[in-house]
Amino acid sequence: MKIAILPGDGIGPEITAQAVKVLNALGESFEMESADVGGAGYAAHGHPLPEATLKLAKQADAVLFGAVGDYKYDTLERALRPEQAILGLRRELNLFANLRPAILYPELAGASTLKPEVVSGLDILIIRELTGDIYFGKPRGVRECPDGPFKGQREGFDTMRYAEGEIRRIAHVAFQAARKRDKRVTSVDKANVLETFQFWRDIVTEVHQEYQDVALEHMYVDNAAMQLVRAPKKFDVIVTGNMFGDILSDAAAMLTGSIGMLPSASLDANNKGLYEPSHGSAPDIAGQGVANPLATILSSAMMLRFSLGLTEQADRIENAVKRVLAQGLRTPDIHEAGSTKVGTEEMGNAVVAALA
Ligand code: IPM
Ligand code: MG
Repeated sequence: MKIAILPGDGIGPEITAQAVKVLNALGESFEMESADVGGAGYAAHGHPLPEATLKLAKQADAVLFGAVGDYKYDTLERALRPEQAILGLRRELNLFANLRPAILYPELAGASTLKPEVVSGLDILIIRELTGDIYFGKPRGVRECPDGPFKGQREGFDTMRYAEGEIRRIAHVAFQAARKRDKRVTSVDKANVLETFQFWRDIVTEVHQEYQDVALEHMYVDNAAMQLVRAPKKFDVIVTGNMFGDILSDAAAMLTGSIGMLPSASLDANNKGLYEPSHGSAPDIAGQGVANPLATILSSAMMLRFSLGLTEQADRIENAVKRVLAQGLRTPDIHEAGSTKVGTEEMGNAVVAALA
């Protein structure tokens, strides 16, 4: 089984190194190959998604991705910015289903900014469509405004669109995921204003006919944002489009108080996937050995489960993470009085030790 390792920028290399260490400790024979991506790709090859990196990602059975982005690349033209690497990988590998679990580990209940009773036991799964919507819709750009009071001025524009098949396949992913959980799906849209999302609602409702054992509710995105902070435990699976999913998944992640803990998976139709922590490249703490590697380690567990069919090994990693938390080990982002503060490397070593 071949795994492409794309560490990227900022804390990316430090955290992926820990996940690689954990994978190597499992006793399986993975073939792992690394390549530059993001700012590191631009620095070494003049492009955030160098050709060789894309080729490796396509060849591999799964991709483990760190994070991309750094202030020093913010002034580059859009096509060369680090973010283009992840957008390009999603598009080129057809990774249309983005699974973002938000779980509150009981040991970390105090880390949330919300009251413990509102979040304790939180376990929701956001399924974000990842290759359509206004993110990729064309046409887009800056043009001369064709009408209205600002006619003749420059205007920026993007195109929101969803094809029926795009909505159907992500709806299937959501209903199937719900069957393995609490059998409830909330489809989030903006059907009261947007044509695209009235269509979304209609198609999700149609697909639901095939899943009568799963409960479906529809919710407008503004209300969903409110409910996420008011009563987040009411959700089981949330399915939504690319743009709304981007926003809601950050809010959901922060409910747990520890975005450094949350993994994610981006899957194609055959469960080939890219796995990455939900957090970003955190350039402000890069190279200091203090980043939390657990989200990346847990992403590697998702990879074993979804793409490589190694369920028991995935369980081993997840249990090892629970064990180190129970031992009181905390990186600075989740540290509180009474726990033991450790660095990136120590945390990785502790997970390896806890695998046994
Ligand atoms: C995410 C990120 C990306 C997105 C950026 C880096 C392009 O925010 O994965 O949520 O908007 O999808
Ligand atoms: Mg985002």
